[in-house]
Amino acid sequence: MSPADAAPGKVLFSAEQIGERVKELGREITRDYRGRSLVLLSVLKGSFVFAADLGRAIDLPLRVEFLGVQSYGDATQSSGVVRITLDLSRPIAGEDVLIVEDIVDTGLTCRYLLEQIGSRSPRSVKLCALLHKAARTIVPVPIDYLGFSVPDVFVVGYGLDAAQKFRNLPDLRVVE
Ligand code: IMP
Ligand code: MG
Repeated sequence: MSPADAAPGKVLFSAEQIGERVKELGREITRDYRGRSLVLLSVLKGSFVFAADLGRAIDLPLRVEFLGVQSYGDATQSSGVVRITLDLSRPIAGEDVLIVEDIVDTGLTCRYLLEQIGSRSPRSVKLCALLHKAARTIVPVPIDYLGFSVPDVFVVGYGLDAAQKFRNLPDLRVVE
């Protein structure tokens, strides 16, 4: 099936389930960073919905940064070669950075991001991913905060796309 023919099917996680989980993650992050301030680094495009909800569930002083990345390869298979399409607006040296990703699939994109961001002298870097497809791991990356584990299916909605479509679906669905 080509991504252009993709159609969203079964609901994996409803908008309500996602909302609950995001609030839990927000509370956990708020506890862990108590007394500090955060740079919430949203990786575009896939994490824009998640980052918007997560940021509002975190009760800490924070600023938001966006990093646009595009991974070469077709729509459903990451190549691990990542191109930065939009860079941070300000340096992050000395700051606590929380990378917000939509999904860790092979782990190749996140490995690149952790290296990239780590090389800019932040005080700390942690990773928060909405989804993890453990069955597809090529490079294991430490996920500090995880929304949900998913089986080896292609997921759309809540920011995630198939050929740039379906990012606006309020729930997470399996593509059929
Ligand atoms: P990785 O480098 O293989 O871990 O892939 C990371 C990127 O591939 C994610 O940030 C997504 O943009 C995309 N991706 C992987 N699996 C899915 C999926 O099931 N739905 C939508 N995008 C996905
Ligand atoms: Mg992505």
